[in-house]
Amino acid sequence: MKLGVNVDHVATIRQARASKVPDPVEAALAAELAGADGITVHLRSDRRHIQERDLRLLREIVKTKLNLEMAVTDEMTKIAAEIEPHSITLVPEKPDELTTEGGLDIKANMNAIEKLIKKLEGKSIIIGAFIDTDIEQIDCAVKLGLNHIEINTGKYAEKWPEREAEEELEKIKRSVDYALQKELIVNGGHGLDYKNVIPIREITGINELNIGHSIVARAVIVGMYEAVCEMLALIGDF
Ligand code: PXP
Repeated sequence: MKLGVNVDHVATIRQARASKVPDPVEAALAAELAGADGITVHLRSDRRHIQERDLRLLREIVKTKLNLEMAVTDEMTKIAAEIEPHSITLVPEKPDELTTEGGLDIKANMNAIEKLIKKLEGKSIIIGAFIDTDIEQIDCAVKLGLNHIEINTGKYAEKWPEREAEEELEKIKRSVDYALQKELIVNGGHGLDYKNVIPIREITGINELNIGHSIVARAVIVGMYEAVCEMLALIGDF
């Protein structure tokens, strides 16, 4: 399984002091050096962590793949068109949420997403969306011609290690199987850490996991290189 490292929270620490350090760009370099398959950032409308400066520099220096998580807005579409990251993953955004709270309701946003896709036509950007374990949402992703989906593992992670996590795990498995039948690339992410990722890595067909908070939290103690190596030792293909 591939690992995309989300470096948003390196920027969270920097923004806490409106300082220049730690730099998510340096963190991305260290993550790549450790073997990460991609770097993910979420440029939020409120710019609470990642800034446009980060995105521009990351676009220059990331040697693997840069995935931009973004809301379906005109502002973000313009920025994506200008920066041309390798891929974008559309996410919902609420101003006062601590983190992305659930998958994007593609069904309720079909027109807006269609418009976004049209505006990015001709750019070499792969487009996907972060969704809950919902077959209807997968059908909508197919209708829109999206390249990939990222299945929200947040509900599973919240319940882990309780028994109810099993139910969420089953929903993830069913969604992965269904999306693969529909020839979508299937990624996963949200709330995953060094323990709850173990049952997830057993699911065949998941292309990549996007993991942020737990890796950055560990990196604060052991360093980014080591934190990424440890996660790769758990989920990487060797
Ligand atoms: N995937 C998506 C779509 C997200 O919004 C986030 C959080 O920014 C992640 C993955 C990573 O989640 P976590 O920081 O909990 O690992």
